[in-house]
Amino acid sequence: MKALKISPLLRGLSFDGEKGDIVVYKSLIDYAELTCTADELVEKFEKGMRSVMVEGVGGFLLGEDYDDAANGTTDVAKVSGRAGVVNNKVCVVTGGAQGFGEGIVRELIKNGALVFIADMNVGGAKKLAIELNKQEGRTVAFGISVNVTDEKSVKKMVDEIVKTVGGIDLFISNAGVLKAGSVKEMSLKDFEFVTDVNYIGFFLCTKYVAPVMETMNQPQGNYYTDIVSISSKSALEGSNKNAAYAGSKFGSVGLVQSFAKELVVDNTKVNTVCPGNFFDGPLWSDPERGLFVQYLNTGKVPGAETVEDVKRHYEAQVPMNRGCDGEDVTKAILYSVEQKYETGQAIPVTGGQVMLN
Ligand SMILES: NC(=O)c1ccc[n+]([C@@H]2O[C@H](COP(=O)([O-])OP(=O)(O)OC[C@H]3O[C@@H](n4cnc5c(N)ncnc54)[C@H](O)[C@@H]3O)[C@@H](O)[C@H]2O)c1
Repeated sequence: MKALKISPLLRGLSFDGEKGDIVVYKSLIDYAELTCTADELVEKFEKGMRSVMVEGVGGFLLGEDYDDAANGTTDVAKVSGRAGVVNNKVCVVTGGAQGFGEGIVRELIKNGALVFIADMNVGGAKKLAIELNKQEGRTVAFGISVNVTDEKSVKKMVDEIVKTVGGIDLFISNAGVLKAGSVKEMSLKDFEFVTDVNYIGFFLCTKYVAPVMETMNQPQGNYYTDIVSISSKSALEGSNKNAAYAGSKFGSVGLVQSFAKELVVDNTKVNTVCPGNFFDGPLWSDPERGLFVQYLNTGKVPGAETVEDVKRHYEAQVPMNRGCDGEDVTKAILYSVEQKYETGQAIPVTGGQVMLN
């Protein structure tokens, strides 16, 4: 048995009804409370053990949070908000360096989570992690590189997370891209680019995350874990001249429902959050490339003279009269984690703009 199997097994063995211990893998440790073979581990491990040496594999340090496990120093989370739902749980947010992903990362940390910010923009992910660790005065975030369209890169990300902390409790597949355009004109290359990130990326992430969650659940059989994709209101209603995007998001709901049916045996729930437009995020509000500037310059909104006019035009289409943000989305994520009697659902967060039938 390899370290990549033993770490999530130890997280499962130390499960306290809400979460397991953080498990840090080291090829060498000075001292171990338990030394055993891989085959003996399940029988010999006792809750509360903080160091284990598995012959021929290496050492594993256990603790309540990352600093406790890695260094024996702890200042366990001061939780505000919906305490307990993700407190000291290991969460991963793909595309976490900016936009909705960044908002979700910040909210999860307010709720006491340990978050891996996984992004192609690894510089941005690491910078955000450094800021958040400094702000909290403890290790609450790591920046990690991933390209969700590349199978090797996804596997490497998952392996690295497992070696660093032992498992994954909540995986948020948020990385997504948009290229709008008429079906009569869109190139196959652009269509495939959107499909690769939004649809295939979600498949690849689930492929490598689900077995880790299965192993965590194995020892006690009651360790609930969550995979949440961030789709869109365009996963519920078609989008004019935006078929590549809406198609990939509708498709991801099919994946969610199918993964949910399969992974329920491992106590892994799979749901998707369908947000409305994030008008204050970079996609819409970037002063140079944002959609508001683009729509102003192309005269898409008749009579609009400023970016603010364009923004008001779009806000007015939302019954609640504003755009969506990371906090709105995170509330739906926390609901799906807290709720132990629902899976395979698409949860709208649209200010009333798109309603379920
Ligand atoms: N912005 C909106 O109005 C809106 C509305 C509904 C749903 N969404 C969805 O929310 C999610 C986030 O959107 P956003 O607007 O915040 O995006 P954004 O463009 O602001 O940020 C996306 C992040 O994902 C990263 N990324 C892109 N491709 C990647 C890849 N292949 N591998 C790893 N990382 C990658 C980028 O580096 C970036 O940090 C997307 O799935 C999007 O479809 C956005």
